[in-house]
Amino acid sequence: MNDVPPDSQKLVDVESTPICLVHAEDGDWYAINDICSHEDFSLSMGEVWGLEIECPQHGSRFDLRTGKPNALPAVEPVAVYQVKVEDEHVYVDL
Ligand code: FES
Repeated sequence: MNDVPPDSQKLVDVESTPICLVHAEDGDWYAINDICSHEDFSLSMGEVWGLEIECPQHGSRFDLRTGKPNALPAVEPVAVYQVKVEDEHVYVDL
């Protein structure tokens, strides 16, 4: 947990699925599939803006709660996953 401060993200591998784990500025945790739905780029290389993450390639922003893109060129959502925090450990439910 401590290696992902608020307002940052980290690429993690959960059962061979690349996950962008986000520790948002509101202190909550979010997990979104790391692969942009527009092309094959890593969302964890992008920037977090509030409760959105911006794809570094073409700038679509995805809502961390729903996975829906809020800006073109992406039109398809990205999968999001439930996150649970227990005893300083973060768990992602695929
Ligand atoms: S690859 Fe992500 S918006 Fe194009």
